[in-house]
Amino acid sequence: MNFKQLATKYKTPLYVYNLDYMSERYKELKEAFKGRKSILAYAVKANSNLSVVKHFGDLGSGADCVSIGEVRRALLAGIPPYKVIFSGVGKSDDEIREAILSDILYINVESEAELFRVEQIAKELGSVSRISVRVNPNIDPKTHPYISTGLHDNKFGVDIDSAKRMYVLAKNSTALDPVGIHFHIGSQLTHLEPIYESAVIVADMVRSLLAIDIELKFFDIGGGLGVTYDKEVTIKPYDYAQAILGAIKGLDLTIICEPGRFLTANAGYFLTKVLYEKQNGDKKFVVVDGAMNDLLRPSLYNAYHKIEALVEDKSKTKVVDVVGPVCESGDFFAKNYELPEVKRNDLLIIHSAGAYGFGMGSNYNTRGRSAEVAVKGGEDRLIREREEFEDIIALEKEFI
Ligand code: LLP
Repeated sequence: MNFKQLATKYKTPLYVYNLDYMSERYKELKEAFKGRKSILAYAVKANSNLSVVKHFGDLGSGADCVSIGEVRRALLAGIPPYKVIFSGVGKSDDEIREAILSDILYINVESEAELFRVEQIAKELGSVSRISVRVNPNIDPKTHPYISTGLHDNKFGVDIDSAKRMYVLAKNSTALDPVGIHFHIGSQLTHLEPIYESAVIVADMVRSLLAIDIELKFFDIGGGLGVTYDKEVTIKPYDYAQAILGAIKGLDLTIICEPGRFLTANAGYFLTKVLYEKQNGDKKFVVVDGAMNDLLRPSLYNAYHKIEALVEDKSKTKVVDVVGPVCESGDFFAKNYELPEVKRNDLLIIHSAGAYGFGMGSNYNTRGRSAEVAVKGGEDRLIREREEFEDIIALEKEFI
C-alpha cells in the first residue's frame, strides 16, 4: 500500500482499510468451520463503516449488532435480516419493537427483565419473537479487564440457573420462540482453554434443555479471537473451530461466530503527520496531527499499536512519547517508543487500527473525525469524508 500517496491525496489524519486482507481473514475463519452449518456474523461495532459492513455482507457474512443503529446499518448494507442478531444489555422498547418488526434472526436476551419486555412487545405487535439467551459461564478469559465479559462480575448475560428458567418461560410463551444460545466471554482472547470450557458448559446446557423438549438451533459462540498487535501468539482458527466442534459433539446445531477484531484490526492503518518535536527536561515528544479522539485505544486501555515512521534513514532513533494535540495528558499513541528521527510533515503509520479505531472516535476538543479510505484490488476510495466544523455543530441549537 502506498501510504505516502494516500496521505497526499486524502490528507491526514486518515484511516486506511485493506478490504482484500479483510476478505482473506473472513475466508480463513469460514473455512475452519467447513463441513458444519455455520454463519459468521460480523461484529459491526469493530468497524461500522457502511462500505466495510457491505464488504462482509458481499462475502456472505451476517451481522452481530448491539444497537438498533447497527441493525439498520447491517440491513442498509444489504445483509439479509435472517443473518442479523441483536445483542446488548440495555435495549430500549423502541429498539426491541423495531428489531421484531425487522424480522431479524433473533434477539439475544441478556436478563430476565428484558425477556419479559420482549415478550410484552411481541404480544402487542401480535408477533412471535425469536430469542436466544446470553449465558454468562463465569469463566476468566484472561484478557484486559475492560474487555472481559464472561465473569459474574461483568454486566453481561445471565447465570446458568436464570438461563434455564428463561428458556422454560420462553418455551411456554406464545410470543417467544427460543432458537439459540449465546456466550461471549471477552475480546482479544489469546488462550483457547477459556473458550473451550465455556463452550462445554453451554453445550451441556443445550443437552439439558433437549431433555425437557426445548430444542435449540443456533449455538452462538460470540467473537473474541485475538490478533497480533505486538508479539502475541494468538488462537489459530482451525484449533478454535475444533475446540467448539468437540464441545458440541453429537448436537445438531448451526454455529454462529461473531468476529470483529479478527477480521478488521490488522487490515487498518491510521496515518498521521508529525507537527512538532519538543523536549521537556529529558523527555522527548513527537506531536502529531492525530489524537485520542481519532484512536482511543492507547489512552483507554494502554493498548500497544506499532508505529512506523515513513522516513528514509531509520538508523538513528530516539525514545519518544508520540502524542496528539488534545488537551489531556492521556492523549498519546505510545510512550517511551523507539522511533527513527523524524521531522515536521513526516508520516507515521499506526498499525492494527482497523478494529475499534474510528468507531470509538469522538469530537472531543471540537475536532472533526478523520476521513476513511478503503483499498481493494489496488484501487482506493474515500468511504467517509473528513468531518468539518459545520458537521460537528450541525445538530446544535442556540439557546433563545
Ligand atoms: N460479540 C459480542 C457479544 C461482543 O460483545 C463483541 C465485542 C464481539 C462479538 C466482537 O468481539 P471481537 O471479535 O472484536 O473481539 N473496544 C475494545 C473491544 C470491545 C469489544 C466489545 N465486544 C477494544 O478496543 O479492544
